[in-house]
Amino acid sequence: MEMHEELKQRTGEVEAVIEQYLPEETGHQKTIFEAMNYSMRAGGKRLRPMLMQETCRLFGGEGREIEPFMAAIEMIHTSSLIHDDLPCMDNDELRRGLPTTWKKFGYDMAVLAGDALMMYAIETAAKAYAVCDEHPELMTRISRSISLLAGKTGIYGMIGGQVVDVELTDKPVPKDKLDFIYRLKTGALLEASMMIGAILGGADDEQIQTVEKMAAAVGMAFQIQDDILDVTSTAQMLGKPVLSDEKNNKTTYVTLMGIDRAKADVAEISNHAIELLHELPGENPFLENLIRMLITREK
Ligand code: IPE
Ligand code: IPE
Ligand code: MG
Ligand code: MG
Ligand code: MG
Repeated sequence: MEMHEELKQRTGEVEAVIEQYLPEETGHQKTIFEAMNYSMRAGGKRLRPMLMQETCRLFGGEGREIEPFMAAIEMIHTSSLIHDDLPCMDNDELRRGLPTTWKKFGYDMAVLAGDALMMYAIETAAKAYAVCDEHPELMTRISRSISLLAGKTGIYGMIGGQVVDVELTDKPVPKDKLDFIYRLKTGALLEASMMIGAILGGADDEQIQTVEKMAAAVGMAFQIQDDILDVTSTAQMLGKPVLSDEKNNKTTYVTLMGIDRAKADVAEISNHAIELLHELPGENPFLENLIRMLITREK
């Protein structure tokens, strides 16, 4: 099957998994469920759950315990976008082709929807323990995955990165600090995605470390490409505003290194990720193609 077709099919499969874990929209707090589901169903590339599942497959994992984690990582990612778009952060009004959550539901509900998705993600991931009735040997892998999920989301992960990103708005940023921001704000959730796939797939510690490095490279290339698209693409194509970084007076990889160097580095860093993939046992051509595709992605 052609990569484009295969990607479409797998995106559909990932969305079907996510859908199973979304809350029902009933009860006095109905508004929060609507706000959560609005942003979760708005679309998006579903890259993180897909990378999680494909990394798990690379190690031969076939169990269903990955499914709650796939939903959980997408919830956390979506919560980060809801908060990232708030007027007090990037102040953006379009996301995944729709008005941002704060535009649609108000600031108060957007703050709560972000909080809600982040916590519901952990609640959802813990549903993986249900398989332990029949497979008690999976207990350790699941515990380790939940701990990693929380760690890579929090102050030593995505949130930590967003803190430095926000603090350095309007200020010059040296390259090493920019690398730190990207490693955390974007890299950490990609690391969580691929490492959890590896853990649940039965990878050993050394392999998990290689996966962490590979995912860090994917994350870095991904964020540089995001910066490139912010200046070269259209809102129509991206489903989010362009020139958001300029509006917020942000130092980005593009403003710091120039667009040509940024493009060259996306290719180089992605190729490094593929080299690391080749160090691992097993083969997953779809995963390899997916990482390659990120170099030329247009959205
Ligand atoms: C956007 O992530 C935020 C970044 C980390 C650059 P994605 O580009 O994966 O957003 P969706 O999920 O496809 O909407
Ligand atoms: C955000 O980076 C990364 C997150 C943790 C949400 P950006 O602010 O560049 O993401 P976009 O461009 O709004 O998607
Ligand atoms: Mg931001
Ligand atoms: Mg933003
Ligand atoms: Mg951006």
